[in-house]
Amino acid sequence: MKIQANSRRIADAGRKVSAAANRPAMPDGSANAAIPAYMREVYDWAYLNETNARLLDHDLIVSAILLGNNARLRRALVAEVANGQRVLQVAHVYGKLIPEIARRVGPDGFLDVIDLVPLQAALCRRKLRGFPQARVRIASATCPGDEMYDVISCFFLLHEIPDEWKRAVVDALLLQVNRGGKVVFVDYHRPARWHPLRGMMRQLFNRLEPFAESLWHHQVADFATAAENYHWQKQTFFGGLYQKTIACRR
Ligand SMILES: C[S@@+](CC[C@H](N)C(=O)[O-])C[C@H]1O[C@@H](n2cnc3c(N)ncnc32)[C@H](O)[C@@H]1O
Repeated sequence: MKIQANSRRIADAGRKVSAAANRPAMPDGSANAAIPAYMREVYDWAYLNETNARLLDHDLIVSAILLGNNARLRRALVAEVANGQRVLQVAHVYGKLIPEIARRVGPDGFLDVIDLVPLQAALCRRKLRGFPQARVRIASATCPGDEMYDVISCFFLLHEIPDEWKRAVVDALLLQVNRGGKVVFVDYHRPARWHPLRGMMRQLFNRLEPFAESLWHHQVADFATAAENYHWQKQTFFGGLYQKTIACRR
């Protein structure tokens, strides 16, 4: 109950701060004005606390969080990227996914990574040393800038943000993809009724991830204002608990 009230309050706060947080602090979009309420109130321990962030930034931890599905989901995402492409990675991801994408685009491609939090951008920059084809910027996924990309990757971000933010992020990303290009969302999904972990996941969401269960009740396309301009494809994993949804621009 308390967490639901909290989520509602944060969603409201999100609506208010989004206008400010979405506005880049710098005209070139390289910095961002504010850390949103959901980050400070729900995910502070995971992304704003430096000691914890350094401890969490390992594949073993991500594998534990994703119940052993990390490598498989990472492969599913990386398979959507090809050599020489321009790729936007929306938000830092703990572990080695981001260097894998940089390797995949290769020296003829370009990987642009954005994150709201300077600490997360710094962690990401460190793991991209040695990849001159990669750049890390501080920006919100709701305001990724004016550049266009062949592929945009959104890996486990949607479940961590209130629905108002999901809508703003999905719309913003869909706009920045080239015709024929795609936005790839890898995230939670409604598990099958028989799934033995369904109850446990619901409890976990109630306690720790108040914005995640919404992905059990909505398709990613439901958050898009102009969904009809894209071709949507969905693949699910691990009894439906995870999804890869691709929006291909017509
Ligand atoms: C991609 S998500 C979750 C990824 C996954 N839990 C992992 O293994 O790291 C975590 C990142 O999203 C960033 N983030 C949250 N809201 C954001 C937003 N609106 N725009 C850009 N980055 C955001 C956080 O700062 C954090 O670095």
